[in-house]
Amino acid sequence: MMPWQSHIWHLPLLLTGEAVAEQAPTVPPYAFRCQNEPLAKFYRETVPVDSPKTWTCEGTSVHPISFAIPSEDIVPCVPEKFTDFASLLPGVEETYIFPMTSFGEMEYKRMYREARFGVKIRRQGWETMRIYEILAAGSMPYIEKVEQIPPTALVFVNKTLLKAARELGGRKDGTWPGYAMLAAELLRHTQQHLTTEALARYILSASGRGHASKVLYISHCLHGDYQCYVSLHGLRRVLGDGLVDIPRLDYMYEPHVAPMQPIERRMLCPQTSCTVLSGGRGDTGKATFGMAGEGMPVAIYGGGFSYAYRLQDLPVNRSLSALRRSLASHEFDAVIFPNAEVAQGHGPREVRLLVHLARQHYQPKDIIVLAEDSAVGRGEPRELELIFMLDLVLRA
Ligand SMILES: *[C@@H]1O[C@H](CO)[C@@H](O)[C@H](O)[C@H]1NC(C)=O
Ligand SMILES: *[C@@H]1O[C@H](CO)[C@@H](O)[C@H](O)[C@H]1NC(C)=O
Repeated sequence: MMPWQSHIWHLPLLLTGEAVAEQAPTVPPYAFRCQNEPLAKFYRETVPVDSPKTWTCEGTSVHPISFAIPSEDIVPCVPEKFTDFASLLPGVEETYIFPMTSFGEMEYKRMYREARFGVKIRRQGWETMRIYEILAAGSMPYIEKVEQIPPTALVFVNKTLLKAARELGGRKDGTWPGYAMLAAELLRHTQQHLTTEALARYILSASGRGHASKVLYISHCLHGDYQCYVSLHGLRRVLGDGLVDIPRLDYMYEPHVAPMQPIERRMLCPQTSCTVLSGGRGDTGKATFGMAGEGMPVAIYGGGFSYAYRLQDLPVNRSLSALRRSLASHEFDAVIFPNAEVAQGHGPREVRLLVHLARQHYQPKDIIVLAEDSAVGRGEPRELELIFMLDLVLRA
């Protein structure tokens, strides 16, 4: 058994259509129950996804990329619904009532599971974890201006289904004809194409490394750098101990807490400044704002919901001498720089040294860079041949 398999929903139970309710993490007052339709075998049918388009730009090949969700967060079927719209409204602070605790995370997810729709609004870009959280909960994202999403954003999401969800949620008469079937189609697509494993396989295969078994990931993830978090999560699940992630991000790993002991949801700010808006805490329910400079303790971004505290420790040798040797002898099938910061050689000393070593021993075509579109144009352009861009916007 692969180490990660224990995290996955127990498929055999799901497929026989029995005992599914026992498998979903849930908290009272509502037990997790599937809607009656469609039957479990519906989810087994594989559905297609378009391969995202690729561009070549002055010798650099550019692929769009998107966030993803850990498979353990995805429900096996559309749950029973109790409300039309989830109570959380993006941008409305009073609705951010979830404390950044394990209980808060369960309640946050229960909110979406029991709601027919979850509202998502566009901020700077289209990409947010929220859309994946809504989908993983077996709810429907209700997205304003959904028709304006370009094909280069939310690349793995089925836009036809998203538009249908927007249309259904916009009905004023309080009836939702065809809800169960559309929700199930969205969920099935999510289970098959929006997991972090699917993302990791895409990164590897689109860069011509579908058979990679050993990859170096310079995991200097910034505060709130979801692309870095979810890519690391998926690559670990796909490659097991073949993924060498350095530096080790403690908050990505299982924390081993005793019963009733809270997880210490803090980290050291990895960049010039970190800001957090935390959901309601304890009894007051008031949202709090925090800020920290580089190296100072700060609340983990978004409480760590949907990405943190879940990787299993595997024996990975992160000693510099071992890495030096592995890089010099080309043991890695690829090196990944998970953001523009790393690609531009910024970060702590250890990170800068690793980037330097990687560039010394590896050709640009063996270095995979994940970046936000807006970040790439800045700074000195480097000789990069493989870039994956988030929220890519094409300019004439
Ligand atoms: C999106 O879903 C629809 C309805 O199931 C399906 O016909 C279509 O092929 C899907 N498109 C993509 C790109 O996956
Ligand atoms: C890691 O690799 C180094 C250098 O090859 C070696 O000296 C060290 O014993 C290894 N550590 C572990 C825990 O295997």
